[in-house]
Formats: sequence, structure tokens, C-alpha cells
Amino acid sequence: MRAAILAANPHNTQPWVFRVSEEFIELHAELTRHLGSFDPYLREMHLGLGCALENMMLAAHAAGYEPTLELVGGELRPIAEQSGSTLVARITLVQGEAARNELFEAIPQRHTNRGPYDTARVLTAEQKTQCFFHTEEAVEVALFTEPDTLAHFQELIIDATKAIIADGSMVHDSERWFRHSWSDIQQYRDGPTLDAAGLSPLMTGLAKLMPRPSAEANHQYWLDATRDIQVATAPAFGLIYVDDLYDRAQALKAGRVWQRLHLWAITQGLTMQPLNQPIERVDRELQLGIEPTFARRLIALTGKRPNRPTFAFRIGYPIQNASPSPRRRLEQVMF
Ligand SMILES: Cc1cc2nc3c(=O)[nH]c(=O)nc-3n(C[C@H](O)[C@H](O)[C@H](O)COP(=O)(O)O)c2cc1C
Repeated sequence: MRAAILAANPHNTQPWVFRVSEEFIELHAELTRHLGSFDPYLREMHLGLGCALENMMLAAHAAGYEPTLELVGGELRPIAEQSGSTLVARITLVQGEAARNELFEAIPQRHTNRGPYDTARVLTAEQKTQCFFHTEEAVEVALFTEPDTLAHFQELIIDATKAIIADGSMVHDSERWFRHSWSDIQQYRDGPTLDAAGLSPLMTGLAKLMPRPSAEANHQYWLDATRDIQVATAPAFGLIYVDDLYDRAQALKAGRVWQRLHLWAITQGLTMQPLNQPIERVDRELQLGIEPTFARRLIALTGKRPNRPTFAFRIGYPIQNASPSPRRRLEQVMF
């Protein structure tokens, strides 16, 4: 579970709670820790829970167990229909051979890197191929490095970020999780922080001295950083596809794939960042029943295919190290 709580998860909401017995560990979704209109079907929440599952599976092997994972299936449903916590997966443990591997070792080093990446260094052909090994049934990974496609990706991510900051509910639901002050971080131990924003050490220090900006100003900084730093210095973008965007088990599996990919990247000296704005807009447009602009633009970008993107990311060599983000203590996430 110590490995699980270090997993990637949307907006650092840490939407998990664990129940432990002699033979198994259950992972439950803490449904109150949601992102509202940013994740109206809890699709991202389940991706994050999948990330936690992947870390637990790696840790179980490393600790000398043979883990068996059972996922709770079904369809992802709107937040309003759900409350409390709900079982998502059970890992049954029997004694096995201890098998440490480099992905397990990378768990404490993995952090989301929102700073600039080195545009002069590209992935090797072997690294590009290795990206596709980290997959699961019904999940597919694609990597894009062609200059034309990169330009389209940049435009799509910037436009999706603009659409989000023009949507008052999304800004409000996102802002709710931001932790600006040291005392808030100590109190909540979750959420995005200035340390994890990918600013230079000087800018991070200066930002900490300023009062908390308004939600609108904060999200305008986010758009600026997305446009001028994050997509501007991305040597490669990637997508993770699933057969069914609102299938719960597939969201969990896609989360496992993301976590595994990110850990693998760390072993290569590479770094990564999700840039999931276009797919957050796909969910939001569906929730509002408006034109599916971003679903169409994703199809235009990657061609008509039977599966759909659930996760977008960039990958490259880091220029600066990424900082860890806070986590709630183990005692706070067990019942
Ligand atoms: C489903 C999902 C979506 C995410 N979307 C974004 C994103 O759009 N932009 C971003 O900078 N980080 C994104 N993240 C990264 C999380 O914010 C990050 O994992 C979390 O804050 C914990 O920090 P860590 O990864 O450094 O441990 C996403 C993570 C997940 C699992």
C-alpha cells in the first residue's frame, strides 16, 4: 500500500481507500474525492486507481507474493448517481518467489514533470518500440513524433485548455484541489502544489511569496505554461486507447499501463507528463450534451479507428528534476 499511494492520480486527489485481510487487499474508490465537471464520469479517477493497482502488483512481486488481480467491471456512470466508497479491485496474495524489478525500484523516483523538456534529444527507435510493450488487453499505446502531427497535438491541447478555462464549472472544480500555502499542504496532503508546477526554483520561490491568485488567474498561468513550456518543448506525444471509453475495467487497465509506462520512462532517464485536457473536454461535452468538438478533433488527428483515446501525454528528456507531490498517510487511507 505504501507503493500504491505513490501512484499517479488525477489532480492528486488520491481517490483511494484500502481494506486489508490476511489473504487479500481490496482497493476501493473514495467517490467523494472527485473532480466534478473535470471528470464527470469518474473515468480519470479510475485511471488513477489503475495506477495504484499497478504499483501494488509490482510491490507484491517484490515482496515475494504471487498476486492475483480481480477487477470489478461495469460501466462508468455520472458522479451524481454515486456516493460513499465502492469496491474496485481485489488483489489476492499467496506466497511466491521474490522478484524485484527495475519498475518497482523506480516507484519512489516517478514524479510528473511539468517543466521544459530537452527538444534536442529524441527517443531512440528502440525506446519507441519499448513503449508498446507496456500494454494490457483492450488497451493500446501510440506515440507521435512526426513534426506535422506534433503541431496538431500542440494546437489540440492548447485549444482544449482554453475551452476548460472558459468553462466556469471546470475552473471551480479544479481550483478546489489546489493547495497554495504550506499550512494547506500540511492539512490536506493532496492536490496540485506550486512545487509540482514545473516552475524554475526562482519562480517557485517567488510564487510562494505571493498571495494565492484567483481561480481565473491560476488557470490562466496554467494555459500559459501549457502553451509556452509544456507543449512547446514536447519531443513526442502519446495516447493510450481503450476499446470502450466508459468501461470501468478498461479504465483501470489503462491506468496500469500509464503507471508502467511512466516507471519504464524513469528507468530510461526519460520523463513524462499527462496532458489530458482534450479528453477531459470529451467527457465534459458529453455531460453537457453539446457538440462533440474534441472527440471529432481527436478522430481527425489519429484517423478513424475502433478504439478511443482515454489518456494523452508527452515524453522526453528532462531539463530540470520534477518535485514530489504530497500524499495522505497510510493510516488515513485504510478502513
Ligand atoms: C488520469 C490522470 C490524468 C492526469 N492529467 C494530468 C494533466 O492533464 N496535466 C498534468 O500536468 N498532470 C496530470 N496528471 C498527473 C497528476 O496530476 C499527478 O499524477 C498527481 O498530481 C500526483 O503527482 P505525481 O504524479 O508527481 O506523483 C494526471 C494523472 C492521471 C492519473
